[in-house]
Amino acid sequence: MKFKVLISDPLSEEGILPLKEAENVEVVVATDLSPDELAKTIKDFDALLVRSQTKVTREIIRNASKLKIIGRAGVGVDNIDLDAATEHGVIVVNAPDGNTNSAAEHTMAMLMSLARKIPQAYFALKNQKWDRKSHVGVELKGKTLGVIGLGRIGAEVAARAQGQRMNIIAYDPFLTAEKAEKMGVDYGTVEDVVKKADFITVHTPLLKETKHLINKDTFKLMKDGVQIVNCARGGIIDEDALYEAIVTKKVAGAALDVFEEEPAVNHKLLELHEVIATPHLGASTVEAQENVAIDVSKDVLNFLTTGLARNP
Ligand code: NAD
Ligand code: MLT
Repeated sequence: MKFKVLISDPLSEEGILPLKEAENVEVVVATDLSPDELAKTIKDFDALLVRSQTKVTREIIRNASKLKIIGRAGVGVDNIDLDAATEHGVIVVNAPDGNTNSAAEHTMAMLMSLARKIPQAYFALKNQKWDRKSHVGVELKGKTLGVIGLGRIGAEVAARAQGQRMNIIAYDPFLTAEKAEKMGVDYGTVEDVVKKADFITVHTPLLKETKHLINKDTFKLMKDGVQIVNCARGGIIDEDALYEAIVTKKVAGAALDVFEEEPAVNHKLLELHEVIATPHLGASTVEAQENVAIDVSKDVLNFLTTGLARNP
């Protein structure tokens, strides 16, 4: 008898080879299922592999009578109902390291594009406008970058920003004075960070505690003309408060890769000239997608065959 594995989001072909080549596994790739179709289909499967598009709801897990493990090809598991999985005895594993570098590089690309208004200038030029006056930027050198969440990606961003001669101030509940010193970063509370920073970048998971961590009260503490980057999760920054802070000129610009509701088309933030955005592309590189798919495929295969799971 073969274990049946359903892959419901597009994953790297190379990355899923460990599963495809396993003799005791049958892999089914079905990436266009509606939530209702997935809830029906899932009942035959031992494992489910997703990226971020599939919402693994309680309804889906309830119907998954044979399901043993859900593999998330990426970091955030906020698209999976973890309580429902636990109640039904379903293990959830993610791929915490494979896209760190890509997400950090994307954050730096967003930070630099924001500072130099590259997307706005590109858009103007593509529309036949040679407009240099409207696209005067600011240097990063000597500015302070506030990093909220100094985990894998936050730390990589901090190191790269130091390479741009930026000063770093960070907040992370697990940041010790010793670690901060070793990394050459200043540290403080969220309030300290947002008061001192010229640019702020968030790199926390989306949890109850981090939902709207940046809200209308936090914006009030910031310097006038601060610029904001979010390549972590929509919802860490209150989008209504961000909109208000931009139209009142408190915030000079924002670079967003993620939104509270995705896909985010016709979003009011996207109407603002000060906002630059990408459609959740932080981990969208050949390397990262291969890495996370390999990691999660190996974990799922290992669990199905040995019953042992790495810590999620
Ligand atoms: P990580 O677990 O390595 O780091 C997260 C850090 O946030 C940890 O150090 C943790 O202590 C800290 N944290 C937790 N609660 C906090 C709080 N209340 N205030 C401040 N810090 C807090 O995770 P990571 O790999 O660095 O990922 C960071 C975020 O980026 C996650 O939300 C992840 O889903 C997201 N991500 C997005 C993309 C993308 O495509 N845009 C790609 C990869 C990861
Ligand atoms: C993640 O949490 O890893 C990101 O959202 C990246 C992704 O899923 O593509």
